[in-house]
Formats: sequence, C-alpha cells, structure tokens
Amino acid sequence: MCGIVGYVGPKKSMTTLIDGLKRLEYRGYDSAGISIMNGKGVETRKAKGKIAALEQAISAHPLDGNIGIAHTRWATHGPPNEMNAHPHTDCTGTISVVHNGIIENYGPLRAMLQKTGHTFTSETDTEVLAHLIEAAFDGNLEEAVIDALALVEGTYGIAVISAKDPDKIVAARKGSPLLIGLGDQPGEYYVASDVAAILQHTRQVVYLDDGEMAILTRTGYEVCDLDAQTVKKGVSRIDWDLDQIEKGGFDHFMLKEIFEQPTTIQNTMRGRLVPDEGFSKLGGLNLTKEELQQLDQIVITACGTSWHSALIGEMMIEEHARIRCEVEYASEFRYRNPIITDKTLCVVISQSGETADTLAAMREAKRRGAKTLGLVNVVGSTIAREDDGGIYLHAGPEIGVASTKAFTSQVIALALLTLKLGRLRNMSVVKGREVAQALEELPGQIQSMLDRAAEVEKIAEEFVTATNFLYLGRGYNFPVALEGALKLKEISYIHAEGYPAAEMKHGPIALIDENMPVVFIAPHDSVFDKVVSNVQEVKARGGRVIALTSRDEPALHGKIDYEFRIPQTIDMLNPVLAAIPLQLLAYYIAAKRGLNVDQPRNLAKSVTVE
Ligand code: G6P
Repeated sequence: MCGIVGYVGPKKSMTTLIDGLKRLEYRGYDSAGISIMNGKGVETRKAKGKIAALEQAISAHPLDGNIGIAHTRWATHGPPNEMNAHPHTDCTGTISVVHNGIIENYGPLRAMLQKTGHTFTSETDTEVLAHLIEAAFDGNLEEAVIDALALVEGTYGIAVISAKDPDKIVAARKGSPLLIGLGDQPGEYYVASDVAAILQHTRQVVYLDDGEMAILTRTGYEVCDLDAQTVKKGVSRIDWDLDQIEKGGFDHFMLKEIFEQPTTIQNTMRGRLVPDEGFSKLGGLNLTKEELQQLDQIVITACGTSWHSALIGEMMIEEHARIRCEVEYASEFRYRNPIITDKTLCVVISQSGETADTLAAMREAKRRGAKTLGLVNVVGSTIAREDDGGIYLHAGPEIGVASTKAFTSQVIALALLTLKLGRLRNMSVVKGREVAQALEELPGQIQSMLDRAAEVEKIAEEFVTATNFLYLGRGYNFPVALEGALKLKEISYIHAEGYPAAEMKHGPIALIDENMPVVFIAPHDSVFDKVVSNVQEVKARGGRVIALTSRDEPALHGKIDYEFRIPQTIDMLNPVLAAIPLQLLAYYIAAKRGLNVDQPRNLAKSVTVE
C-alpha cells in the first residue's frame, strides 16, 4: 500500500529518498514519484511501475536539493500510470503533495475547484489537496494546509512542500500512519509512513496521532493540532535492526520468514509461559483478574490471514476457557449493530496494526463499551497505541506481503491468552501444563519440518501448472485449510478454496476430477477418523490427494498420492505445525511459476484504506 518518505536537512536528499522508497517496496505499489526543492523551485519526477523506472526517469532528467518528498502509490482512484503517480502539484507547480489514504469528498471538492479555475492533470483524489492548499495559501504553508484539511473528509497521511514557503515540510495525519524521524546530524528530519523507510538513518522517532500536524525545518520540528495549538510529543526508540528486514541469503523475504518461525514463535512465548504452573503471564492485558473472570463474551475481529488465526482462537477459547466467542471480519463488524456489553472483550488481531477496517472495528467496539485487546506485531502502530491492552507478537518485521510468521505468532499469542483465561476459570493445572509443554515443543517440531522443506518442494513441482486447488480440514484444521488456500492464491494466482472437509459434499465435490488437487490436513487428532471418510470421497472421484499426516495411518494406505509428515501435537496447536508445509507449498509453487512472491500483484502488505 502507498508509502511516504520525506527529508529536510543538510544532505542532498535524493539518495535518502530513493533508498527510503526501496525500503517501502514490500508494502506493494504500482508507481512511484519524487519532488525535490532546489534553487529552481519544486521539481517532480514520476514513473509507472517499479522504483527502478523512477531512477531511470531521474537519470534522464537529473534533479537534487536538500528538501524532498517521495511516494510509492498503490492505485485507488485512477489506474497506475505516470499521470496518477504522486507527488501531485497545484496549478502553479509550486506546491507538491504526497498522500496515503482516501479523500472521500474529492468529487465535490474537485468540481468546486474546477469552477474557480483550477486545472487538474490526474484522476486521483489526492490532487484536490494540492489545489485546496494553493487556494488557501497566503504566505504560510502550514496555515494553508490547516485550511485545506478543514474541507476534507476521509483519511490521510500527507507531506507537503512549497517553493513559496521553502525550507520546510508540512506533514499531517488522520487515519493513515505517519512518523517523524530525528536525524543524527543537526537540523536533519525525516517523515515517513513506515519506520522501515528511515531506519538506516535514525532510531529516534515521534509518532503522529490523528489530527496532528508536523512542521519540519532545518532548525527543528514542531507538532501541533489542526487548530495550530502545539502538542507535546514523546520520542520513541526503535529497537529492531535493518538486517531484520533484509533477505539474509534467502531468495525471497517470504521464504526467510517461513524459516524464522522456530525463533519467532519462541519470541512470542518468551517470558510469558510458566510451564510448571501451566499458566501464562501477559503483562500488557491491563485487565484485572476480576474483570477477566467476569467476561461473558469475547469478540475477535480481524482481516485476511489474521482473521484465520482468529477462527483458531475462537475454538481454543471456547474449548478451554469456556467463554462464548465470536469471530467477525472487521469490515463487517464495523457496519453492523453487534451485541457488545461492558462484559465483552474485543480482541483485535493485526500484523501491521494499521489495517483500516480492523482499526475502525476496534474503535467501534470501544465506543460501545467493550474493553479492547490488540494482538499486534508492529510496535507503536495505531492499533497498539489505541487499544486498552495488548499482546505484542514479537515476530519481527514481516516484509513478504503474504503473512507467514505473523500467523503462527498470532496462534501462539491466542494460545497464551487461552491459557490465561482458562486457568482463571475452568482449566485444570494438569491441562494447563499439557498445553504449556506442547507449546514448548513447537519450535523444535517446526525446525524438524523446515529441515525437510525439500520434500514439499518436490510435491510443489508436480503442481506448478495446476489451475485449481481445494484445501480441506476439520475442527482446528478448518481455518488452516482456509489459510493454506489463501497463501496459494495470494502468491501463485491459482484459484484455491478452503472448506471444512465434510462440507465438501455440499458443493465442492462437484469439482473433483483427476485435475483437482486436494490438500487434506489430516493429523492424528480427535476428528481423524472422520477425515478418512472425506479422503475416500475424493479418491473415489479421481481427485489427487496431498495429505498432511502425523503418523503412518493404515486407514489412508492407497488413498494418498503425496504425503508430508507433520509432528504430533495437541489438537489446538495443530494449526501452528500444519501451516508450515502449506506456506512452503504455496511458496515453492509460486517461485517455480517465476512470480514476484514478495510483492504479489494487486495486494498490499498493509491495507490502510477501507
Ligand atoms: C492484507 C495483507 C494480508 C493480511 C491482511 C490483514 O490483505 O496482504 O497478508 O493478512 O492485510 O493485515 P493485518 O496487518 O491487519 O494483519
């Protein structure tokens, strides 16, 4: 999704801005652009496609200066082309704007501006901002930005420069993340939508909140609200490293992140699991023992992969903590009239902590009186800052657009939450210890599967040209089937569906023939015998069966075409193990199809628009 980086300071800004854009590539984008302020005013270069194309445009028509803003665009209004790429300028070409988010009333604003003589050159919603600022400009850029934003409905993270009020960047935020970086050299400041863009230059950042604006100059920075009242902000320190967002010898970030999982799930558990007592310590919950005991409902809301982990959490919590639990897509939840009371806990799951629908759902739950608990990976993200309590995933930066390590860490965090709630209610210490012990075994078990990744790669070779896939599982493995199918379609563009195995009879079975690969998640769990019948149903119709099993199963002899063995664990933790070969299968199929695994077409890492 769109990315912003800006620089003001003593250095020439071009390299910093281009490097920053490259760090944002992982978010997904389809065009890029840059505006630099120099002796000639504001100069802009843009290009459709990758940053390499922008670099070519710059080398054909070089530009440089000490102040600049840059952007990667993920098309919303108007197709991805040079004209619609950001930055956008006003009629005079002296004001330049980059914008993340969506201006919802851009239609009427555009018509109003056109009536008063403004000429538009793009189809974007963003361009109205440049013209609104132009119309309001009276010598001071921040005042013009405040006046312009007063007319705007929607969401924005923006950075603006103007040749008529030079030597400053004005940035503002409402609903789209933005932060300021304090440079190592005196008089050096950055603005970015994502800390990855500036981490090679600074670890000192100030997160802007909604309704705040920052003015960056070579003499300092100031944060104020949209009434121009100064806001005092704390400085945060980023404690992760750039090499954590580099590939480390792997062909793709996604593969690196799959292989990191023995460590990342350990990081999620570290300091939280108390194996001897079969208990977990979750310091960030911010709920008293009494409040936890009085909960009568949990609602979990999320999008995409995080929604799949939510489904697993629902089963864990209902089975072991005996609290009624509902899972809902955040995009649906926010526009319904859900039943929420002061005894409801709303658990919000998000890798990025910035997904627009999830954030809005959390705010809605809060407004209705629920306590909110964020299971978030990105430290300092908006959900993490606005929730009442939280469990950070500590999975480290996830760069591949298709989520892998965040998913397994989410399931672990949900297991820790289940332990905590269960032990305060119905779960015996014996059961608690059993869960804790199974959790402790997971990193080694995952490693043992990763050591056999070549087996999955071999299976993948057989299916590189497949056009459809079905993923089936029961109980805890039904959400894994959904996640396996999602991984495959996201990165390989092969149509794939996940179903509860028994539900296949009610429709998908019509699709089964010798061209339909069917992945069964069939570990030796409490529903294994039932899954065997479903395997038989597929085999009887000529389908090609790929099965994840946890031991030699005589009942499956002769019914499976390809098999991958996963270690044995307790039912509720099967998803963590079963996810690994499914991630690998999707990865190898996509890589063998020669696709851009880390940045699949049309997808964004962090969906900050509705
Ligand atoms: C996007 C990503 C998915 C992710 C979903 C939710 O669609 O491509 O991988 O699962 O957003 O993101 P979140 O950051 O809220 O977990």
